[in-house]
Amino acid sequence: MKKKTIGFCIILSVVLACSSTQEITEPNVDFQIPKNFPQPIYNLARNPITKAGFELGKALFSDPILSRNNSISCSECHAQSYAFTHHGHDVSHGIDNLKGTRNALAMQNLAWQSEFFWDGGVGDLDFVPLAPIENPVEMDEKVGNVLEKLRKTQYYPAQFKKAFGTNEINAERFLKALSQYMLTLVSANSRYDKYVRNEGEILTADELAGLSLFKQKCASCHKGELFTDQSYRNNGLTIQGDMDTGRFRITEQPQDKYKFKVPSLRNIEVSKPYMHDGRFYTLETVLDHYAEGVQQTPNLDPLLQNGIPMTAKEKLQIVAFLKTLTDEQFLKDKRLSN
Ligand code: HEC
Ligand code: HEC
Repeated sequence: MKKKTIGFCIILSVVLACSSTQEITEPNVDFQIPKNFPQPIYNLARNPITKAGFELGKALFSDPILSRNNSISCSECHAQSYAFTHHGHDVSHGIDNLKGTRNALAMQNLAWQSEFFWDGGVGDLDFVPLAPIENPVEMDEKVGNVLEKLRKTQYYPAQFKKAFGTNEINAERFLKALSQYMLTLVSANSRYDKYVRNEGEILTADELAGLSLFKQKCASCHKGELFTDQSYRNNGLTIQGDMDTGRFRITEQPQDKYKFKVPSLRNIEVSKPYMHDGRFYTLETVLDHYAEGVQQTPNLDPLLQNGIPMTAKEKLQIVAFLKTLTDEQFLKDKRLSN
């Protein structure tokens, strides 16, 4: 019921900015639900996307003013051409070149996600920015200081006025603007999408064979058009040192130890390295892991008890299919870059 209302609201908002507050004046120009996607989870009625809100969020996203010494922006670790990941870093590097503990997640189709981070530690997109801003090895700043710095600029008060009808800068508006930008990061124009939507795209025999193998062997977890069932699972990685325990850190339930969010595989060709700790640098090594490397560690997923048997040819075909998920339009969309 609730979801249907939201969907209707979005369709409506394309035309007349579905909003009850008179502050919002411009129509939503940046958000559309792709035909092959389900209804989004984010409540867009609560934070309607406007042109000015989107532009403000985009400016904030790429502004190092959000960090303690004004040196590192969100976009530093989330670069568009790599599906908004930190290219070339197994775990991302933040302020003062300090090393983080996890591989930066791709940012795409966030409106369809109910929980964020590898362990699902944040349940609302609006609160996601608080974590990197306050993380001592990422941006190491207090949100209060960020707001104070923004108020002192020439630029931002006027932008907040355009977006929210007032030049008063507060945490809620700051976070809503960032969300408006993040919500527009919709990737749904890969060759695969054009193929499933019958838009004249043709897949090769190997890509089609790969798609069919993927449905048999991978889609129980990397499910549906988002390529994730949004669950937390242990896919049998070798435990290295005092490895991150994943979902356990949030729930403290022993049955959650070593479980991580099933990540989407959209744009996977460009978002290497792979896994929560960036341990694999190629898709071939990922497939070798599933075929030959799955370890019997605590809470290994029942679906992977015997690994995923694949011949060399099947691996090639699955990789060929995965590359059809690369969305050049999204990776190069100038609207999204600053
Ligand atoms: C120092 C690098 C770094 C910076 C700076 C950074 N991030 Fe991240 N981001 C990461 C890492 C690493 C993760 C995965 C963290 C985890 O799972 O615990 C992540 C995860 C995310 C996610 C979750 C995606 C998902 O699918 O769950 C979002 C959204 C996000 N970041 C947005 C932002 C925003 C907005 C900013 C700026 C306010 C920002 N990030 C700054 C490294 C960074
Ligand atoms: C039992 C569920 C499950 C199955 C089946 C499964 N995966 Fe995964 N996959 C996961 C989980 C969980 C992760 C994240 C693990 C981590 O980082 O610790 C993952 C991560 C990945 C990644 C890395 C993504 C990234 O952004 O770093 C790739 C690529 C991948 N899987 C491909 C596949 C392919 C191809 C198949 C089929 C051959 C497959 N998976 C089958 C659960 C599964």
